[in-house]
Amino acid sequence: MSLDGRPVQAVLLAAGRGTRLKSPLAKVLHRAQGVPLLEHTLRAVAGAQPITIVIGHGAEAVEAAFAGRGRFVRQDPPRGTGHAVMVAREAFAANADRALLVVNGDLPLLRDRTVEALIAAHEASGAAATLLTAELPDAGSYGRVLRGEGDSVRAIVEARDASPEERAIREWNVGVYAFRVAPLLRALDQLTPQNAQGEYYLTDVIAHLVADGEGVGACRVDDAREALGVNTLQELAIASRLLVERRLGELMNAGVVVEDPASTFVGVDVRVEPGAVLRPGTHLEGRTSIAGGATIGPFARLQDAVIGADTVVLDHCLLRECVVGSGVSIGPFAHVRPETRIEDTAKVGNFVELKKTRLGRGAKAPHLSYLGDATIGDAANIGAGTITCNYDGTRKHPTRIGAGAFVGSNSTLVAPVSIGDGAYVAAASAITEDVPADALALGRSRQTTKAGWARKRRDTKAKGS
Ligand code: UD1
Ligand code: CA
Repeated sequence: MSLDGRPVQAVLLAAGRGTRLKSPLAKVLHRAQGVPLLEHTLRAVAGAQPITIVIGHGAEAVEAAFAGRGRFVRQDPPRGTGHAVMVAREAFAANADRALLVVNGDLPLLRDRTVEALIAAHEASGAAATLLTAELPDAGSYGRVLRGEGDSVRAIVEARDASPEERAIREWNVGVYAFRVAPLLRALDQLTPQNAQGEYYLTDVIAHLVADGEGVGACRVDDAREALGVNTLQELAIASRLLVERRLGELMNAGVVVEDPASTFVGVDVRVEPGAVLRPGTHLEGRTSIAGGATIGPFARLQDAVIGADTVVLDHCLLRECVVGSGVSIGPFAHVRPETRIEDTAKVGNFVELKKTRLGRGAKAPHLSYLGDATIGDAANIGAGTITCNYDGTRKHPTRIGAGAFVGSNSTLVAPVSIGDGAYVAAASAITEDVPADALALGRSRQTTKAGWARKRRDTKAKGS
């Protein structure tokens, strides 16, 4: 669902210092479920047009991270949420006929469908403002919603400025608002920083609107967790976990087996097909995608990895920016690095590292290998301990291993070098020259065996002592 087709514009508040995070990084760049807080907010308001993002603390970094995603307005220095909306005034006043969504930038759990419902309620009622509220037995540091006659909203009072009776109110302000532009502009003019923090509070516009005779409505979220505002690193971790749980819930409902949701992480943009199995301790990040029938883990981390059907990634593997076909077996303890492609039914065994390498269909590298900048043909067999020497200290060089080639254990392939189709490399060879197709290459000195040598040595020692 999105706001597409509705005449809605948005202002996102992302200038705050985030003092309570105690971090040099701008608050909205902190990540929940692998993506920055502001990304979550932008997705929740997708379809609003235009989108204005108020930035201040860490402005350069925020602008760089979200270039092209909206219009940026600087709030320097940040003097409260009301002040943030004031500095965006020109941007939204230009579209006075469009409803205005104002959304705090620290609400990663907010769903697009909730924003959509808020706008629908706002448009249906014709109110000057409609706020999203939630309820908790103890609303902590959130702003309390004061109701008047007939359930109408009277005001929002910040927790720090609230009386004990007001603090006992369970309904609180989520930080998501829909406004009609003209009354909002009038109410903004009336804001003053007379409060505990000496800031211009956006929340004060509600009382001003009511005093001006305007209607203010409210829309309640069913699940207060969706309204969690991130102010501390602990809340950030809680939000991240809740997002992951939500995503895992969707995946399980769709037919993905998640053996231990508590230890499993799945990022926002990860795709997992029904019939896949995620074993405990599995972390799927970035644009990873897992096809049906694949089994991942336990304890595997995949970043931007594409995994084909029925592939098995065993214990303790790290895979990054790679494409893996179907029916492949990887690990345990394998490291698959960027730009690697593993074709169908290939096998990558334990303690094998692949970098920028293509492993052909049905090819095998079962144990203890480093294969970098290599192209390995279909059904080739790479013996235990094979190393591609791809780096000469200055530059990287390619290795080619043909289809059906057999590389004996503990071979050293000094690149650039090529092993032809169907060729054999004897175990423990150092290969520095190309091997033609179907040839046998021996790249080691011949063994010498001295009969009786050991016994003689023992006898000499015995006499000497
Ligand atoms: C705010 C609300 C509170 C509500 C809570 C919900 C106000 C005064 N209070 O409180 O009623 O219950 O959110 O989570 O609005 N920001 C700016 N410029 C500023 C100050 C803040 O852009 O000068 C941005 C922040 O980056 C943040 C958002 O506004 O994304 C909210 O600011 P924050 O300081 O976290 O407000 P709360 O104290 O949580
Ligand atoms: Ca907050």
